Amino acid sequence: MRVRLKGDAICTLLLLVALCSLLYSQLEHLVPVGNKEPTQKKPSGTSKIFSDARASWRLMPAEATVPRPPVTPTIRRTEVANKKVQTTTAPPLTDSAFNFKRYLLNKDNRNFNILINQPKKCRKIPGGPFLLIAIKSVVEDFDRREIVRKTWGREGLVNGEQIQRVFLLGTPKNRTVLATWETLVHQESQAYRDILLWDFMDTFFNLTLKEIHFLNWAAEFCHNVKFIFKGDADVFVNVENIVDFLERHDPTEDLFVGDIIYNARPIRVQKSKYYIPETMYGLSIYPAYAGGGGFLLSSRTMRKLSRACREVELFPIDDVFLGMCLQRINLKPVLHEGFKTFGIVKPSAAPHLQTFDPCFYKDLMVVHSLKVAEIWLMWNLLHSPHLSCTQKKQVKKPFQWKKKVQPTTQASPLG
Ligand SMILES: *[C@@H]1O[C@H](CO)[C@@H](O)[C@H](O)[C@H]1NC(C)=O
Ligand SMILES: *[C@@H]1O[C@H](CO)[C@@H](O)[C@H](O)[C@H]1NC(C)=O
Repeated sequence: MRVRLKGDAICTLLLLVALCSLLYSQLEHLVPVGNKEPTQKKPSGTSKIFSDARASWRLMPAEATVPRPPVTPTIRRTEVANKKVQTTTAPPLTDSAFNFKRYLLNKDNRNFNILINQPKKCRKIPGGPFLLIAIKSVVEDFDRREIVRKTWGREGLVNGEQIQRVFLLGTPKNRTVLATWETLVHQESQAYRDILLWDFMDTFFNLTLKEIHFLNWAAEFCHNVKFIFKGDADVFVNVENIVDFLERHDPTEDLFVGDIIYNARPIRVQKSKYYIPETMYGLSIYPAYAGGGGFLLSSRTMRKLSRACREVELFPIDDVFLGMCLQRINLKPVLHEGFKTFGIVKPSAAPHLQTFDPCFYKDLMVVHSLKVAEIWLMWNLLHSPHLSCTQKKQVKKPFQWKKKVQPTTQASPLG
């Protein structure tokens, strides 16, 4: 009887151990791989329902292993659906549209001519510009370029520092969408002197080519710049904050700052739009990389990256590709809380703030996914002399926003 009891106890114990290890292995799949929680665009009001949905979403094998990377494409795709009739940067809707075999075969074809250049962009500034703003755009998005030119992308002085701007373009994939595209970009180039156009097809998976060509261009034509901001046209950038931040850094030292994503894993499920086969990337984790909404780099880092990227094999996701270049020069990108490249989440610590509140934006550096009208409106609200943010905020405040009134940023926004 005693022996049987002892046997039962051991059996129960063994079963418990087995159950525990099973639970533990399940849990491992549930915990996000990245160091940061995936940012959600949902307001906090729906967070309860949403978090439940997210829990089951995480259980799906493809998405469970990759917390952050799929967010970018999803945002980009919905943007396309919501705001644009046609776009060349839209990721393909089926994976068959992206031909890995062909990509791998063409991988060595990575040098394309520059069709429209601005060779004097930086040279004409004595001592070089303090900040070069480089914005990824597609030819068809004329309205986005216009609003950026009139708001945060203005050239001139901010806090006494010289700002210059360029747009990075490839040739449109579907040329029938805008038959006049060549005339348009030439006119824009003459009117604003801010167009860089290269002779490769401007597709989502060719953004890596844009990265390489821009870095090479900067190293050749803008070596006297102190810092570079590179980002998308659908972001809001608080240039005053960026200048303030950069003034405390040395351009002759390495600097790479943004919304850094750590420990993201390649998607190995073929059905996913972001499927990357092991033949293309064999490791299980991507190097740390910056979310594509926008990031900052110093002149020194720009030159080092332009050399390093030439030695890295082409990779279809441009953010990750740049992460590989950073890894090659052994440079750790720095995460900054002021970069919200996955959109703003209503701060739970400051529930009185609305998501679209200039008092919230004035502490940030980059916010992703804004409509053209929102960019214009936010810029105006932030530069209104009536703006007062007296209410005590508990939002994490990376640095101080200068209340100083600047003549360049104060002028009427739509000229
Ligand atoms: C290009 O765009 C036009 C007009 O939107 C459309 O009718 C045509 O099917 C597109 N062609 C291709 C190859 O996608
Ligand atoms: C990238 O651009 C080149 C040159 O225009 C083109 O041949 C190629 O198909 C493009 N690749 C992708 C993936 O869109």
